[in-house]
Amino acid sequence: MGKTYEIAVVAGDGVGPEVVREGLRVLEAASEIDGFAYRTTEFPHGTEHYLKTGELLPEAAMRELGDFDAILLGAIGDPRVEVGLVERGVISGLRFGLDLYINLRPVKLYHEDLTPLKNKKPEDIDMVFVRENTEDLYVGIHGFFKKGTPDEVAIQEMVMTRKGVDRAVRYAYEVAKKRNRKNRLTLIDKANALRGQDLWTRAFEEIGREYPGIQQDHAYIDAACMWLLKNPEWFDVAVVPNMFGDIITDLGAAIQGGLGIAASGNIHPGKSAMFEPIHGSAPKHAGKNVICPIATIAAVQMMLDYFGETRAAARVESAIAGALAGGGIKDLSTSSGMKTPEYTDIVLRRLRAAG
Ligand code: IPM
Ligand code: MG
Repeated sequence: MGKTYEIAVVAGDGVGPEVVREGLRVLEAASEIDGFAYRTTEFPHGTEHYLKTGELLPEAAMRELGDFDAILLGAIGDPRVEVGLVERGVISGLRFGLDLYINLRPVKLYHEDLTPLKNKKPEDIDMVFVRENTEDLYVGIHGFFKKGTPDEVAIQEMVMTRKGVDRAVRYAYEVAKKRNRKNRLTLIDKANALRGQDLWTRAFEEIGREYPGIQQDHAYIDAACMWLLKNPEWFDVAVVPNMFGDIITDLGAAIQGGLGIAASGNIHPGKSAMFEPIHGSAPKHAGKNVICPIATIAAVQMMLDYFGETRAAARVESAIAGALAGGGIKDLSTSSGMKTPEYTDIVLRRLRAAG
């Protein structure tokens, strides 16, 4: 008897519960086909829970969540409360609290009709972003001086540590090596204007010596945004500080078909991990069953891969790919006319047919 994966489910706000429900349908089917066992435990954290209890993510819940093999998160955010409060409390709370220092964001195009880029094909858009996930402007060191006066000063500190940069860079080299596709790692930063980021430049070069098979490449974030649209085929694996990584991966999501498909893994290798669609809670669509759940299904795929259930992960991926590449799903937007479970039905048909 193999291991039973313990999965914590934080469905969260807005469309979160709708998409998580679909992701779990695919997980269940994958477990039947591939014969792995899992158990899910639901956690209530999110805006509703906050409004009821005044609690975001208490220490005890954090510790408990960290003991699971993985967390599956839906979405967090609700306009009824202060901007960013629950996102910072729960999403950033988990990233920082569990030290999930890698944010892994694959960008892969499954069908040319899904990209807004002209003349780009699936073979042109296939890359992985390794976003540093626990430092930079996100550490929350900020403050106001003379708040509310004409002389107000506001600061938000960009924090980088040698340890934090090293572990992200090393992980990215490992991803490039394991992928063995173009064997190229691009460092994306703004070290010309932000000289503190010279730390990234040095770590990238020094650690790169341990990976002679991986070509070192570099782009400033502004240029990287341009290249990503003009020549996405240049990218294989890219490592990027937290803030720029947040921005460029939305661009990445757009060129692979939008937020309806983009998934990510927040990972502390060997310790804890949380998988989520990168879209938000989309409050205006909540409860209508119009959100495409493919991003969450892709998050489940990433989770299986992280568990080492590579065969199951590959099956889910090819079911997604098949469904998108002429297999019935042509539009991932909320105006596609398809209901949330219908997307999953198509993926499940593919999964079962192949299994
Ligand atoms: C993301 C999101 C988060 C981030 C928000 C919700 C805090 O945009 O996961 O990319 O900025 O990291
Ligand atoms: Mg983002």
